[in-house]
Amino acid sequence: MHPCSLDPRLSSKTRASGYSCPFHNMASDLKVVSIQEDRFSDVIVHLRKNFFSDEPLNKAVKLCKRGEPHAALERHSLATLQQGFSRMAVTDSGVIAGVALNGTVKKSEREKAESRLLETADEKFKAIFTLLYGVNEKVDLFSTYNTEELFECRILSVDENFRGRGLASTLMTDSMETAKQAGFKSSTTLFIGIQS
Ligand SMILES: CC(C)(COP(=O)(O)OP(=O)(O)OC[C@H]1O[C@@H](n2cnc3c(N)ncnc32)[C@H](O)[C@@H]1OP(=O)(O)O)[C@@H](O)C(=O)NCCC(=O)NCCS
Repeated sequence: MHPCSLDPRLSSKTRASGYSCPFHNMASDLKVVSIQEDRFSDVIVHLRKNFFSDEPLNKAVKLCKRGEPHAALERHSLATLQQGFSRMAVTDSGVIAGVALNGTVKKSEREKAESRLLETADEKFKAIFTLLYGVNEKVDLFSTYNTEELFECRILSVDENFRGRGLASTLMTDSMETAKQAGFKSSTTLFIGIQS
């Protein structure tokens, strides 16, 4: 069955907007669903195997070896998962092919969140987030969009066995729809590296 037809939210959007589904070029047993609490630990395992080591900034500072845990990144990921806006692409048998970890942040919360993340003693982690927060401050999307709250795609990760088939694009499109359904007019993502 076509994966979009398995996801009622994506399916109705597809019909309403004429959205062209990138899954047409992909394995037919994939569907995009929201991430429930019973899959949080599987998502963390996915991130250890794929994101913690492969994301360009993590890779540049040699943050983790493939499969290794990282306490601060895992706290950041779990806090985002708990907000309830994250999405994953899974096979019929439940294997996680990719994830988009999405969250919302209010202007008043940003500073507190930033200082919490920087409490870590891990200098490599601090270097990455200092850079990201510096860019956030410079760009200042709260002022640009004259808003008190932003929807962010914080982590985009595709299993190395599923890369190069449009899955990241699908997850981004899906996350934009999730943002719209949550009442956001615009969303933000900050990717640094050759994919940016
Ligand atoms: C980056 C990543 C998410 C891409 O996933 P993917 O499913 O292979 O990506 P897609 O097939 O949807 O490709 C999307 C676009 O990115 C480009 N792209 C994908 N991987 C790329 C790479 N390593 N280098 C340069 N461009 C890349 C594709 O060419 C495509 O561009 P197009 O739309 O102009 O054709 C995946 O490689 C990954 O998980 N990497 C580790 C984590 C990471 O870096 N996440 C992003 C920052 S949060």
